[in-house]
Amino acid sequence: MTIPKLKIRDLVAKIPIIQGGMGVGISLSGLASAVANEGGIGVIAAAMIGLNETDIYSNFKEANIRALQREIRKAREATKGILGVNIMVALTNFADLVKTSIEEGIDIIFSGAGLPLDLPKYVKDGINTKLVPIVSSARAAKAICKRWLSRFNSLPDAFVVEGPLAGGHLGFSADQLDRPEFSLEKLVPEVVEAVIPFAEELQVDIPVIAAGGIYTGADIHNFLQLGAAGVQMATRFVATHECDADISFKQSYIDARKEDLVIIKSPVGLPGRAIRNQFLKDVEEGKKKPFKCPYHCISSCNCTDSPYCIAMALVNAKRGKLKKGFAFAGNNAYKVDRIISVKELISSLLDEYQKASYRPTVDYQPEFLMSAQAGAQVNIEGHVAGR
Ligand SMILES: Cc1cc2nc3c(=O)[nH]c(=O)nc-3n(C[C@H](O)[C@H](O)[C@H](O)COP(=O)(O)O)c2cc1C
Repeated sequence: MTIPKLKIRDLVAKIPIIQGGMGVGISLSGLASAVANEGGIGVIAAAMIGLNETDIYSNFKEANIRALQREIRKAREATKGILGVNIMVALTNFADLVKTSIEEGIDIIFSGAGLPLDLPKYVKDGINTKLVPIVSSARAAKAICKRWLSRFNSLPDAFVVEGPLAGGHLGFSADQLDRPEFSLEKLVPEVVEAVIPFAEELQVDIPVIAAGGIYTGADIHNFLQLGAAGVQMATRFVATHECDADISFKQSYIDARKEDLVIIKSPVGLPGRAIRNQFLKDVEEGKKKPFKCPYHCISSCNCTDSPYCIAMALVNAKRGKLKKGFAFAGNNAYKVDRIISVKELISSLLDEYQKASYRPTVDYQPEFLMSAQAGAQVNIEGHVAGR
């Protein structure tokens, strides 16, 4: 059985794999274009993308716009495949980054870390950029659908549902992270079911993409069986030659042990998953002191009380200065044992997918699929199409 394609309206990715956006500076044009060239969807992370601009302190707004334009253009020169930009709602320059991405003709905007309730207002008639919110619950997906329908008479072109095993900032409280009712296996069918009535109302498909802890081709197979139309993976793409981070950042994944993957309380006000290092130990022990905020980059950041600047810490990590920062990583980062090319990674995922698809499927049919069959059709590509 060959792997199904991922359709997001008129965009068709040959393989249903999205490379998750990774800030700060971890997924830029290098990684995104490599993934797009292999038939997946490559995503540039927009958070603090102007980090290398000489005027980033004095001209935060323009520096970020300029760097984003440049990365999108560089990626576009390197691939004819599908490219996205990840723009977190919590960024203070969210509107600038959205407008710039649309002006540059980006294929898809992925947006999480808050509910992108007003995202469609930036998309004028004739613009073909797709809008894909990242959510962590069916409730959030419904809230976005309701708002977009009532205010804009539109719906998301797809949803990414990110579960508790993901890297970076997480859309759960710390006590929810280990509870079975918040597992990605539970969330995916719930989100698929939640969007069916909305999709039916506008007679559109809303593919649901699973993210967080997906590591092998067998995992991909499992989530497609659960109703996902595709997967978003980030951690695995860090340990590739094409990833835009410094080699020490990649090496920190190879060196990480299971017990090094920890949940931190980020200054942004959300829990985050990262690799514990001396910097984070110092933070835990109260050795870091509040600082002056250089960028005002995240609206929810409690920078007056925070023991460190998250933007500076992540920029340092991207540059390989891990003594002055730390690496975000998904729960499975400890499994990474070497750096390979994006091509090798994707081909091994496809092999594993193939093998998994020959195994007898688990005797499990999510309840929503049985109840949904009357009104909605599960198409051969694995996602529920509203009819
Ligand atoms: C280093 C790193 C940085 C990340 N940065 C962002 C980001 O800037 N914006 C975002 O929406 N998600 C971010 N994420 C989450 C990923 O896009 C992705 O959804 C998630 O990590 C998937 O889980 P996986 O890493 O287990 O594959 C980040 C993840 C990692 C590992």
